[in-house]
Parts: sequence; structure tokens; C-alpha cells
Amino acid sequence: MSKEKEIILSGIRPTGKLHIGNYLGSLKNFIALQNQHECYFFIADLHSLNEPFDPKTKYEQIIDLAKDYLACGLDPKKCTIFVQSHVPEHSELAIILSNTIPVSFLFRMTQFKEKSDDRAEKNVNAGLLYYPVLMAADILAYKANLIPVGQDQTQHVELARDAAGFFNNKYGQFFPEPKPLYTEVPKVMSLLLPDKKMSKSLGDSHCIYIDDEPEIIQKKLAKAVTDTGDGKSLGAKNLLDLAKIFCQPKIYSKLSSDSQKGSLKYSELKQQLALDITNYFSEFRQKKKKISTNDVEKILATGAKKASTVAQKTLTEVQKKIGIR
Ligand code: ADP
Ligand code: TRP
Repeated sequence: MSKEKEIILSGIRPTGKLHIGNYLGSLKNFIALQNQHECYFFIADLHSLNEPFDPKTKYEQIIDLAKDYLACGLDPKKCTIFVQSHVPEHSELAIILSNTIPVSFLFRMTQFKEKSDDRAEKNVNAGLLYYPVLMAADILAYKANLIPVGQDQTQHVELARDAAGFFNNKYGQFFPEPKPLYTEVPKVMSLLLPDKKMSKSLGDSHCIYIDDEPEIIQKKLAKAVTDTGDGKSLGAKNLLDLAKIFCQPKIYSKLSSDSQKGSLKYSELKQQLALDITNYFSEFRQKKKKISTNDVEKILATGAKKASTVAQKTLTEVQKKIGIR
């Protein structure tokens, strides 16, 4: 990455607990990036409405995710933290951008195809199709150029880049073309179905949540799918990838060389990993318990004000460029 100050932006949907895939694929990067760059990290509440949800718990999920951000180490003095719907410029910019994005681009998005297949009998709403347009607006409202996300979001960031290109071609150079930014582990796999990415939608036993208590982590890992010791299966590779991040380098080297020799004992790997994941997130668990909802609401209000100033400026310029102002 260049030494210049980049504009970094990303969001996570408030749909329940964060798992180690969310953490390793995106949040871990947010924390590292806030020290060097202009960063905007938000809670993508509008993006969470296209699937069934309970209005009674949605606000709780928003506040809980903000607590996760803070307890993991995001610092409101270093970055702007806010809720997407508190900055209505995102939605307005999305409406404008939608006029430059061919609908065929939206129909070919993998996430749209997979989720609409799953929901075929139920409710394929327009929000699911329109999702990447709103995501492009989130990004372009801040003229962000680097987007820390997991691998599953690559296509959506590419669509934001296309949207910037379409707009620039039509109205003159204005938006930078954003690129995804990955961590060392851009795709953590499910514990039980290691050919699929770890995801809440698969169910709790597929995921390790970052606030899981130690015994739960141990139980979940004990059931994780592996192989007979040669470390070649997807499940074994996934656990070794996790060990690389969470275990001491010396311990990881031993595990990895045992696996190459075909002598790795998975029960040992799993116990070590359970211990190290537990320790890794213990400070997070303590910190989260101490953060009050009241403090979070103040941080989010300040964040929305800061974000709005920037997004409003972009929106006004866009309105002028397209001739409605
Ligand atoms: P989920 O798929 O669990 O509902 P989200 O869609 O809310 O998660 O994703 C939030 C962020 O976490 C995104 O940047 C996404 O790319 C990243 N992410 C989600 N699952 C994984 C995973 N298994 N491995 C790596 N990154 C992931
Ligand atoms: N689509 C992302 C996800 O499912 C969340 C998101 C919404 C996002 N807007 C964004 C990520 C803008 C990066 C930039 O995880």
C-alpha cells in the first residue's frame, strides 16, 4: 500500500453476533488501518433489511455491533464510526447512481443469484437486487479508494468501481475507483462444511463467535471436520490457517510441520486453538461488558455528524454535475 493517506471505508451488517470470519476478514483490518488513514466504519443497517428480521431487536443489533467495533479496538478519535441510515445522503446518492448502472450488472451478482435461489419460494425483494447500488453509494459518498472486506464482497466492490467509471464517463472525472483490501485470511471456512465460508446463515455450530465463552469454543472445535492427519483436506487447512493467526509462531511451526509429515494429532491442534482463540478475545469480552449503550449512542451521533459533512459535500457536487442543482 502507498504511504499516502488513503480514504478507507467499510461496513458490516447488524444481523447478530460477529464470528471469527468477520473479524479476520474485515474488522481486524479496520483496527490496523485507523492509525494511518482517513477511515469511515459504519453499521450497514439499511443493508440488513432485505432478509427477514424482527423490528423489536434491530436497534439492539445495531448498538451491539457498535460495541463490538469499540471493544475490538476501533477508536472514535482515530476514525469515524456511524450508522448508515443516520446519514441519508447514502440513500440519495444510491438513487442517482442507479441511473448509470445497467440492471444486467445487478442480476449477475453471485450474492443475488445465491440468495434469490434460496428464497425463490419466499420473498425476493428489490432490496436484494439493489444491494450493490447502495453499497456503491456508501463507498463513493466518501470518495473512498480502499475497501477492507472479506473475499465474498469482491464482486460488490467491483460494481462500485464500475459505478464510479460509468459516472465519470458520463459527467467527467469525479470519483476515484475503489479497490478491495484483504487481510491474510480473506475467507474463513465453516467448521462443519469447510467448502463453504463461515457464515451466520449456516447456523451457530458452523461459526466461532468472537464473544463465545471458552467452553463453547472448545465444543465447537471438537466437532470441526478434519481428515486423517495429512493436513490436505479443506477442514484441516482451515484450522491450520486459524492456528497461524491465533497461536504463537513456534507452536504454529510445530503444528504445520507435523501436518506435512502426516503426524498431526487433530485433538491437540483443536485444544491448542481453543485455548488461543479464547485468550485472544478475552480482553474483548471484558471490554464489551463495560461499554454502555449511552456512550455508544453519543459516539454514533458524533460520527454521523462528521460523516454527513463529507457525504453532503459529495452529494451537492454530484447534484450540480448532473444538473439538478
Ligand atoms: P455473514 O456472511 O456472516 O452474514 P457479513 O455479510 O455481515 O457476514 O460480513 C461482514 C464482513 O465480514 C464482510 O467484509 C465480509 O466480507 C466479511 N466476512 C464474512 N464472512 C467471512 C468469512 N467467512 N471469512 C472472511 N471474511 C468474512
Ligand atoms: N455488503 C457488505 C457485507 O455484506 C456490507 C457493506 C455495506 C459494505 N456497504 C458497504 C462493505 C460498503 C464495504 C463497503 O458484508
